[in-house]
Amino acid sequence: MKPPATKLPTSRLIAGNWKMNGLKVSVAELDLLLAAAPPAGAELLLCPPATLVASFARRASASHVRIGAQDCHWAQSGAHTGDISAEMLADAGASHIIVGHSERRADHGETDSMVRRKAEAVARAGCIAILCVGESLEQRDSGQTLDVISRQLEGSVPTDSVPEGLVIAYEPVWAIGTGHTPTTAQVAEVHAAIAGRMGAGFRLLYGGSVKPSNAAELLAVPHVDGALVGGASLKAGDFLAIAGAAA
Ligand code: PGA
Repeated sequence: MKPPATKLPTSRLIAGNWKMNGLKVSVAELDLLLAAAPPAGAELLLCPPATLVASFARRASASHVRIGAQDCHWAQSGAHTGDISAEMLADAGASHIIVGHSERRADHGETDSMVRRKAEAVARAGCIAILCVGESLEQRDSGQTLDVISRQLEGSVPTDSVPEGLVIAYEPVWAIGTGHTPTTAQVAEVHAAIAGRMGAGFRLLYGGSVKPSNAAELLAVPHVDGALVGGASLKAGDFLAIAGAAA
């Protein structure tokens, strides 16, 4: 990894992943985010489904809320029916693109090498990749967590990644959408390992059942520079409460 060329912001990145939720009417939630005062010490990023990226990005332009996307193909264009390239999402106004989410890995058989190609595509398009890693419950229970994370980083992080272009999200698969979160000691252990592996400057997010009631505790863990929030990002009030916990 190269050292950071410029100093990254010290504020926390609070990213919302709407997954396969959201219709045109859901712009009401974005409007609530736009109407609220920018949270102190936090940057807001909302990743709606691809159908809403362009309209949300237009609406949020020149505001404190950035709009991202949830996945992309690695090719720039071509015969890939149903897929969307990073360049298309950048063109629609996306600043960030999530890659390697465990739901993509599980639902679409995405491998580390596919995730690496996607992360490379995100950089090529001039966006910031949010690359997700995380262990299953079985892997945690059998003591393989750090090995799994290290293998995923090895296989999926492009070798020329720079902190300005890549964010890592640690999302234990068993914590996603379950209401269960790791202990702060478990989060600290994994984040320290990722920070050690990535080198200085890379932002690390924690994701998996982050909600208003646990956000302050999770965001206080060393090497946790923000959160990737699924379910609790669907309601602007909850999302803002999480961002408020970053202060
Ligand atoms: P969750 O999802 O907050 O609903 O657990 C997090 C994620 O998958 O990014």
